[in-house]
Amino acid sequence: MNKLTIQDLDVKGKRVLMRVDFNVPQNADGTVRDDTRIRAALQSINFVRQNGGKLILMSHLGRPGDPKKAETEEEKAKIIKKNETLHMDPIADRLRELVGGNVTKVNDIVGPEVEAAVNAMQPGDIVVLENTRFTKGETKNDPDLSKQLASLGDVYVSDAFGSVHRAHASTEGVTKFLPQSAAGFLVAKEMEYFGRVLNSPDRPLLAILGGAKVSDKITVIENLLNLVDTLVIGGGMAYTFMKAQGYEIGNSLLDEGGIEVAKTVLAKAKEKGVALLLPVDTVVADAFSNDANTKVVGLGEIEPGWQGLDIGPKTLDQFCDAI
Ligand code: 3PG
Repeated sequence: MNKLTIQDLDVKGKRVLMRVDFNVPQNADGTVRDDTRIRAALQSINFVRQNGGKLILMSHLGRPGDPKKAETEEEKAKIIKKNETLHMDPIADRLRELVGGNVTKVNDIVGPEVEAAVNAMQPGDIVVLENTRFTKGETKNDPDLSKQLASLGDVYVSDAFGSVHRAHASTEGVTKFLPQSAAGFLVAKEMEYFGRVLNSPDRPLLAILGGAKVSDKITVIENLLNLVDTLVIGGGMAYTFMKAQGYEIGNSLLDEGGIEVAKTVLAKAKEKGVALLLPVDTVVADAFSNDANTKVVGLGEIEPGWQGLDIGPKTLDQFCDAI
């Protein structure tokens, strides 16, 4: 891989600005429900600490709303309440438990408080910035914000595997203002695997896609359609595909903006002779809860009030056969 990785960097005594993806599943009160993403970044985090670097971590958490855009007072209050659960404090607490080191959470991503915390760092210390998306300019990839973020580090590491597809100030813009940018272990591993599959795949080649959002993944899906023999689609996005084919999906997850995308994907798969496998049956529930009633229904049989939460047994067999 002809890309710079974290292992190529000399981090001793340097301020390492690292973008991670700590957009973790949370409990209603904002505490961490699943710390997989935090643990996934530990290899890069520990590398910097063990090699005498000072680590400044940036991440977004959820999608904070803008109260100014609310049309009613009620809506405004709802946005404010939701945003309150999107502070990075519980994430920093969890990280502190995992690394057992000096982890300081600051209340902004740039500005005097952040600068003071960074200036006070010793090698091995970690500063966790506030949710990057609380700051205007992050999602707009604002060059001024990017420049200010860049001034916090001597080198940049991208280990936010789930967010590297976003051109935001903390993921892309910032790299223009730092002398060196490198992939962290997570991103490097993914690039190596992808590189291998994209350049010289063993055939037949099958890809499995899931996740909620279809529209976000369109370019990935289009590329895959040029490459794979079989594409298996499950997870949340399967319901958008069902909807695109005219099937009822009840209360299942729907990516409205993805319906047209799904139609295009279906047509392209046909045109290219790619076998596209979608669920033929679904486990539905009457609530997203452990004590919900559940049953298995066929394609197009998800009734109002019910939502699909998993593939059914027939689908499982079909997917297994294909795999
Ligand atoms: C994710 O969970 O998909 C990533 O953290 C990216 O989040 P986003 O879709 O809100 O940019």
